[in-house]
Amino acid sequence: MLEILILAAGKGTRMRSDLPKVLHKLAGKPLLGHVVDNAHALGATQTCVVYGFGGEAVPQALADDKLTFVLQAEQHGTGHAVQQALPALADDSVTLVLYGDVPLTHTATLQPLVAAARAGKLGLLTVTLADPTGYGRIVREHGQVTRIVEHKDATDAERAIAEVNTGILAVATRHLKQWIATLKNDNAQGEYYLTDIIARAVADGVAIETHQPACEWEVLGVNSKAQLAQLERIHQNEIAQALLNDGVTLMDPARLDVRGTLSCGRDVSIDVNCVFEGKVTLGDGVQVGANCVLRNVTVAAGTQIDAFTLIDDAEIGEINRLGPFSRIRPGTRLARDVHVGNFVEIKNSQIDDGSKIGHLSYIGDTTMGKQVNIGAGTITCNYDGANKHRTVIGDDVFVGSDTQLVAPVSVGKGATLGAGTTLTKDAPAGELTLSRPKQTTIAGWTRPVKLKKES
Ligand code: UD1
Ligand code: CA
Repeated sequence: MLEILILAAGKGTRMRSDLPKVLHKLAGKPLLGHVVDNAHALGATQTCVVYGFGGEAVPQALADDKLTFVLQAEQHGTGHAVQQALPALADDSVTLVLYGDVPLTHTATLQPLVAAARAGKLGLLTVTLADPTGYGRIVREHGQVTRIVEHKDATDAERAIAEVNTGILAVATRHLKQWIATLKNDNAQGEYYLTDIIARAVADGVAIETHQPACEWEVLGVNSKAQLAQLERIHQNEIAQALLNDGVTLMDPARLDVRGTLSCGRDVSIDVNCVFEGKVTLGDGVQVGANCVLRNVTVAAGTQIDAFTLIDDAEIGEINRLGPFSRIRPGTRLARDVHVGNFVEIKNSQIDDGSKIGHLSYIGDTTMGKQVNIGAGTITCNYDGANKHRTVIGDDVFVGSDTQLVAPVSVGKGATLGAGTTLTKDAPAGELTLSRPKQTTIAGWTRPVKLKKES
């Protein structure tokens, strides 16, 4: 049985923020959320989060994640933090300790630590740094780890050690309970150090098995906005490389942001500065132009999305052409071969096969049939100031430019609305409906002339 303990009570002073550090977002998700995802991926039977600074904001933000929360009201060190959670952990389990502000560790890096703990050892993740300043140093004798000394307590000789403690370790929970109970705070910081359990383990004959991460950034923590930005880039680069490996064309892998999951079919291409949020699926051959934002969207095969298009909570069918400068809002479903052009906004509408809304229009709360042509500047007036109403447009309708459809209203199959129509009543199928006055010419009319100013 594996139980995971995530330490997340620290204040994060250097973030200069009222938000608890672990709730700052990396790739659109709280730092702590990344660590929790790892815990779930490792199959933990219980994941316990020790929180403190920021109060209930932390449990509230992760309420859906099936976690146990333990409050560490005052922060007296990592050993003290672990101690708060011990009553929640089962004696016969293995505990893996993670930090809530270290978001990018691969599960493959953590698995060997858990395996070591299951084999009765203490698994410890260490890393060798060019500049180990500030970290706890791994002290070895004849190659065997004997203890960890914190930077502030270390001698000059110990400070020269480049192998440092990442803080991540795994051990049998019953040992953890024994050793934590014996910790003292007689050190430079007056804290209870979790790291002191290493010497306890050695004294009790429990072997220390160290492992190193494949990449140094897997164990980097976030203490400042600069470090957060640095890890964000590292993470985005990892995502971009994975997409490239899957055959996606990225015009510039350094100018892509995925804040969620992006699944792509074959021969997808993505131009620069696109942002994908939530769950986005792009079908075979989809092309996304520069500067598009897609949030919780499914795009079917062969669709082309031109530059500066924003799509939110929508379903886009096959061989559509969207943009440039289209905005598709929640609840929209575009069927096959739909064309939505520049400065067109569509909200909560269903547009059927082959329909075209080319320019400067607002289509809201509308059901549109097949092969409809919507002229430039058409507006569905869906809101009467109190309630929203639907517009229904049948197949093969032609709507002239600068038309207003005052909902609730419907346009019958094959109807034509003349340019400039303000439709307040249903338009019958197959007929031409106009609401504008007949064009007249006033013969001999002359333009007013400017009056001479009296001097
Ligand atoms: C700790 C380790 C050090 C290691 C370093 C890696 C100890 C004594 N030292 O240093 O060997 O090199 O991490 O970054 O363990 N936390 C709590 N409650 C507390 C104190 C800390 O929840 O009372 C949490 C923090 O939120 C953070 C983690 O524990 O997620 C580490 O705390 P931090 O203060 O950053 O680590 P150090 O003690 O400096
Ligand atoms: Ca730290």
